[in-house]
Amino acid sequence: MSPMKQVLSVIGTGYLGATHAACMSSLGFTVIGIDTDPGKIEQLSKGELPFYEPGLDELLRTEVASGRLTFTTDFSAAAKADIHFICVGTPQKAGSLAADLTYVEGAVAAIAPHLKAGSLVVGKSTVPVGTAQKLLAQLSITAPQADLAWNPEFLREGFAVEDTLRPNRLVVGVTNDRAEEILKQVYAPILELKTPWIRADLPTAELVKVAANSFLATKISFINAMAEVCEAAGGDVTVLAQAIGYDPRIGNRFLQAGIGFGGGCLPKDIRAFMARAEELGAKQALEFLREIDAINLRARQRVIDLVRGELSDDLSLYSIAILGAAFKPDSDDVRDSPALDIAAQLSAAGANVTVHDPKAMPNAKKRFPALNFAPDAKNCVAGSDLVLHLTEWREYRDLNPTELFATVKNAIVIDGRNALDRDKWIAAGWKFHALGRTNA
Ligand code: UDX
Repeated sequence: MSPMKQVLSVIGTGYLGATHAACMSSLGFTVIGIDTDPGKIEQLSKGELPFYEPGLDELLRTEVASGRLTFTTDFSAAAKADIHFICVGTPQKAGSLAADLTYVEGAVAAIAPHLKAGSLVVGKSTVPVGTAQKLLAQLSITAPQADLAWNPEFLREGFAVEDTLRPNRLVVGVTNDRAEEILKQVYAPILELKTPWIRADLPTAELVKVAANSFLATKISFINAMAEVCEAAGGDVTVLAQAIGYDPRIGNRFLQAGIGFGGGCLPKDIRAFMARAEELGAKQALEFLREIDAINLRARQRVIDLVRGELSDDLSLYSIAILGAAFKPDSDDVRDSPALDIAAQLSAAGANVTVHDPKAMPNAKKRFPALNFAPDAKNCVAGSDLVLHLTEWREYRDLNPTELFATVKNAIVIDGRNALDRDKWIAAGWKFHALGRTNA
């Protein structure tokens, strides 16, 4: 069968699935997106994206209009497809470090009765190592006519389309040549870009993803640990990061010190990895990730300590302006957002907290309705005793500190992302703090 005649299904149309479905449709495939959430499906069917992701809204609209991309809540629609991508979430289990596999297991069970002979189920969700092997064993009973592969996804929010259509590598975990061949055909347009192709066994493919995220988390916590030492020793972590980053073995990316990592992937992935290693009897090998997690959470506490040091232990007398709620810029995602966590903790400690974010306010409001929200950054800052810069949106770097100075009660700013122009803010009269940088 010609590769483009193959029909694809994408099970789970959240962040990963909606992006994958729209991108595969843009490569010319007929794609059926399936999800249990009727509200999400209704929106996607109209070509509307339920979350913010630069460039994806337009791509989704075009692909839905082309007729190649459709969405449904009916799992029997999978019967029309030859290849099925599993893109459902694997959140952290309540009360445990481990990943909750309910959705992955549910998705595979739901499509099993509809799988054609020779069809391939391709897992993209991030799962604990050993999951694929278990799912394959289940399929060999419920749908022996089908095969299973694992193809981890490395997309970054804010760059989801770019990372899907021009990934820096494609990793496929397979148990036979035929499955690899099918995936090579599916990804042929991406392979033409000379994208590295890595064939692995199932456990290695699963591990690649969590190993990559653990490395990235380690890099961030490393530089945040250096920030703590710089604060103690009177150094400047931004200069240190620049200097070590010139060594190509280290590299200058992911060395931005600040309030640390959050989001739907890094925090829960390192925790699930530790939990799985313990089950496998390899607990000690990943013991360091506990420290990575602790350094990361300590960065949030260091900001709160700085605030208390500048104002008072009794925060109920003060108004604090918080610029940023998303876990990173160019996203409206507030899952495990360090910015929103700090906002909520300060509010719980009695401060009058007002938050602004260019895109994430609706999601932040849903999570913490008791916080105040300002319509724009200037309004957020006006009348405050202290300003916290916690998500490095471009528009915050473009703010005019002289103009803001005239509107505040106390001109104190803490840059939790080391992204503001310190000299400019100091010249405008502000008392400026940043994590890991001693004030000159
Ligand atoms: C991440 C991985 O990058 C991606 O490959 C994986 O598939 C999913 O998880 P994402 O969650 O979109 O992607 O965010 P990422 O860009 O990795 O940032 C994660 C967090 O680290 C953010 O909260 C960000 O603010 C923080 N970060 C990043 C730093 O604190 N310092 C840095 O230098 C870089």
